[in-house]
Amino acid sequence: MGRGRAGGLGALLVGTIAAGSALGAQSTRPPFAVPTWAFPTAPAATAPAPKPDSVVLRRVPRSTRTYTMRQVSNGFDIPDWFPQSHPPMPASVQYGVPPNARGCGYCHLPDGQGRPENGTLAGLPAEYTIRQVAAFRNGTRLAANPASPTNSMHTLAKAVADSDVVTAARYFEHLALTRRNRVVEVARVPKTRIEGMLFAYGDPGTEPLDGRLIEVPETFERHELRDPGVPYISYVPVGSIARGRSLATRGPAGAATSCAACHGPDLLGKDQVPPIAGRAPSNILRQLINFRTGARSDSASASMWPVVERLTVRDMVALAAYVGSRKPTR
Ligand code: HEC
Ligand code: HEC
Repeated sequence: MGRGRAGGLGALLVGTIAAGSALGAQSTRPPFAVPTWAFPTAPAATAPAPKPDSVVLRRVPRSTRTYTMRQVSNGFDIPDWFPQSHPPMPASVQYGVPPNARGCGYCHLPDGQGRPENGTLAGLPAEYTIRQVAAFRNGTRLAANPASPTNSMHTLAKAVADSDVVTAARYFEHLALTRRNRVVEVARVPKTRIEGMLFAYGDPGTEPLDGRLIEVPETFERHELRDPGVPYISYVPVGSIARGRSLATRGPAGAATSCAACHGPDLLGKDQVPPIAGRAPSNILRQLINFRTGARSDSASASMWPVVERLTVRDMVALAAYVGSRKPTR
């Protein structure tokens, strides 16, 4: 790999573009229906949300800090439960600029661990982060389900100053993803409800998993408090991890498409190709779908099109389960 791979990547990229755009090439691909459950979206509120409470002091495990819900919900001076877990944040991460450029750490958390609905920034190459924000801004990075509120990132990308993106990207690049996912293979899943852009445990009892990947925070309250330490659990169909390992290793469309060929040994990233090991499985799944439908259509994403071209939803769930369950660090 190394230098050689860069050439291979370029060749693949050119090859794909020569064969037509992502959408143009679709005619020769098997049909693909976007599974809407992969983009959980709560129905729009009918009444304005009540003002967050500004009296009760909340806590999360292992932090000595306290915040009210009002403070937790302030995207322009974000809560930081574990200040010792990361270097001082640049202003773009902690404060942002009102009214539309909230601090990156509000959604992606101060240590960049992110939440399944927005994704991890810790350890992403700065150049990659900068390119993604540009793609959100210019509309070449969309979501395969247009109802999905990933719009928050589009609003932000249009509002944020370029220099703030650069300082944020450099800050997150040097942080490590430490959260470990629990991926659990089941036939039946605890009942869930949708909160915002995320599944949460719902009524008591279980229901058939039915081929889905359902990722939930262990407790929704800690997720709401933006606790970077809350564990997330992904329920996947029985056999997914082994199936994902086999697809990832041999490559869905031959050896050149094995995940490690570009994402590096242990899938921890290589040059500008982002690390994927240990990232939120539901987010990995959405990105595979976004590449598959051409919703991610910026030129750098062309390397991923041949990889996903023939994948079924079942394959993608398996890959997300396997990749998400890998160790995020050496
Ligand atoms: C209001 C919430 C919010 C804020 C604030 C926010 N983001 Fe995001 N971000 C999102 C969401 C939602 C996504 C997922 C979009 C998708 O995958 O379609 C996302 C995705 C991303 C991604 C893609 C990650 C990947 O692995 O592909 C990058 C990079 C990113 N954001 C950078 C930033 C930077 C830099 C800032 C601060 C300047 C920032 N974000 C602030 C909500 C936010
Ligand atoms: C030919 C090279 C290549 C191969 C093979 C490849 N990838 Fe990628 N992958 C990339 C590149 C380049 C990107 C960044 C795309 C961009 O900049 O938009 C990427 C991005 C991704 C992302 C999005 C990450 C994020 O932060 O949003 C996921 C998920 C992913 N790849 C999964 C996989 C899986 C799973 C496999 C194996 C089945 C795989 N990739 C094989 C080159 C490759």
